[in-house]
Amino acid sequence: MHVVIINGSPRVQKYSNTEQIIAAFAKGLSEKGITFEAYAISNRKTWDTIRDAYIKNDEILIALPLYVECVPGLLLEFLETLPKKDEHTRLSFLLQSGFAEGCQLRCGEEFLAKLPEYLGVRYGGCLVKGDNFCIRFWDEKRQAQVTKPYQAMGKLFAEGDGFLREEAKKFTGPEYFPLPIRLMMGLIFKTFVKKMFQKTAASWGCRVPLDEKVYRKI
Ligand SMILES: Cc1cc2nc3c(=O)[nH]c(=O)nc-3n(C[C@H](O)[C@H](O)[C@H](O)COP(=O)(O)O)c2cc1C
Repeated sequence: MHVVIINGSPRVQKYSNTEQIIAAFAKGLSEKGITFEAYAISNRKTWDTIRDAYIKNDEILIALPLYVECVPGLLLEFLETLPKKDEHTRLSFLLQSGFAEGCQLRCGEEFLAKLPEYLGVRYGGCLVKGDNFCIRFWDEKRQAQVTKPYQAMGKLFAEGDGFLREEAKKFTGPEYFPLPIRLMMGLIFKTFVKKMFQKTAASWGCRVPLDEKVYRKI
């Protein structure tokens, strides 16, 4: 098996959490003797090369972050440039996000599950996991620690069933947090986090509340 891995984040590779996750995942692949080539769509100038790799190979993995509950716009734009292929090609996804509950990513997952048929290829499943907001802010050691579980998923992928096995489904973690944690998080977001965002916005020149309902005044 030879895997083409495409980082679907619009964020430049240097600051992309997905990039760190791919590095750990690829380590797992390599440990099982699987070769790979990795690309990132953040630089449009490389799109022709990535499309070529997509056309010439039959094991494709798109790793992407959840942006506003779904697929980043830049990735959608890239996907629209891909030609139709046949069932010899398998397309799998690694979907990661900031918020940790599995339920946050299900809308994106459903959307991705429909794409292979649209492109004429086989679906290899979607690895779903959140809790990745901070990867890029940590030092290398901590980054390696938090992305290490993806190494095991690389090894699992190398066994040939994509992300269709039970181990991949379990990787998501809790679908919902217990009620007391949800209530506490809600309180933290409505107070501390809201204040912090407002302060940052003010430092960028914002003079109205962040939840200002401008459309109501029209
Ligand atoms: C514009 C934008 C929208 C986002 N929307 C969501 C979201 O709806 N749900 C979520 O859990 N995380 C969301 N996130 C967090 C990212 O999914 C998370 O930080 C991810 O690890 C970023 O990966 P990247 O650095 O490779 O782009 C969003 C981040 C950005 C920048």
